[in-house]
Amino acid sequence: MFRNKAQREANGRSLGKCCNAVAGHQVSALWVSLSALMDCVVSLGKETTIPCETRLAMNTDKLTESTFKPGQSANLSTLRERVENKLERLLSNSKKPLSPTLTAAMHYACMSGGKRMRAQLVYGGGLCTGASLEVMDFPAAAIEMMHAYSLVHDDLPAMDDDELRRGLPTCHVRYNEATAILAGDALQTEAIDTLLGREASEVLNVSQQLLITQTLSRAAGAAGMVGGQMLDLEAEDSTTHLDVNRSRLEIIHKAKTSALIKAAVQMGALCAADIPNDTTLTALGNYGEKIGLAFQVVDDILDVESDTETLGKPVGSDEGLNKLTYPVLLGLDASKQYAQDLHDEAIASLAAFSDNALLVELAANVVKRNH
Ligand code: IPE
Ligand code: IPE
Ligand code: MG
Ligand code: MG
Ligand code: MG
Repeated sequence: MFRNKAQREANGRSLGKCCNAVAGHQVSALWVSLSALMDCVVSLGKETTIPCETRLAMNTDKLTESTFKPGQSANLSTLRERVENKLERLLSNSKKPLSPTLTAAMHYACMSGGKRMRAQLVYGGGLCTGASLEVMDFPAAAIEMMHAYSLVHDDLPAMDDDELRRGLPTCHVRYNEATAILAGDALQTEAIDTLLGREASEVLNVSQQLLITQTLSRAAGAAGMVGGQMLDLEAEDSTTHLDVNRSRLEIIHKAKTSALIKAAVQMGALCAADIPNDTTLTALGNYGEKIGLAFQVVDDILDVESDTETLGKPVGSDEGLNKLTYPVLLGLDASKQYAQDLHDEAIASLAAFSDNALLVELAANVVKRNH
């Protein structure tokens, strides 16, 4: 393992460069097929927010089964099990795989543990708008695939160079770097296909499929997770962290972590029979953004305070790479207070929703979690 940046650059970046070229091909292929769909959404309405004008007639008769009943509390471990089953089915049914090794690496990256919090947030968002579980299963699985891909690439030698994830060897250690990169790429496209494929189209209409896919792809891309990862790497180059202001760190954490978490909540909400209005999407998005930022603040704290066995990933990784984090900038106590403040702001955004119990519980878990 290369625990300092110079070593890592010498050993990892050159391979990383050609890997990124491989990844680039995969992503361009994805965008060729997606761009027509996205053009359609953009031409129908506003570009960056979910356009209400695109509301098309909904096929509501398919969307009424297994809707959460008002006041019913959804069990987080049941929902975790639910999305695991869905992921297992989707990954094992997936098309005609060309390489058994690639299929195995995708399965390893996606199915070896994980809290499944982003999936639970999808269900939590949908609970607020009265969506059906069967419909939400698709975005819940898709966001976990996208998240799993982000973890595989985050752990690569060219990035954080970590060897343990979810208590097991990271994907590139278990397989090899090239396989891990390709498994990540394939999980990314599989996430998109999960939302646009035939099975999903049996429970979601085309308008919903487009809006949910757009929400996920934008959150995952250059203006979201990938962009944030780039800023996170660039911030390693700061000679001192003291001169980097707090808003810079907030931009990094919101992009690399909050964006997908915010998208999860909105994707769940978009599964409702009637597309939610802008006020609803904004309130849920605000909840997601705050809780997503709190999640990364706590992740930074755990990297300092926890132990590898509890976390299932190496502690001290951030310090070894000179990462810009909240504990570095504010200290541990102020970081904990900040996470609590963000939690409180997130909860305040839920005031208008009567069926918000799941999101309230998830927010509490974010700040009190130990792994
Ligand atoms: C880890 O996310 C990556 C971050 C954004 C900090 P999680 O802690 O949700 O990872 P899993 O899915 O439970 O392993
Ligand atoms: C990663 O943040 C965020 C991602 C987009 C995967 P970290 O690098 O802090 O996540 P961990 O600590 O490795 O899980
Ligand atoms: Mg990282
Ligand atoms: Mg990392
Ligand atoms: Mg971390």
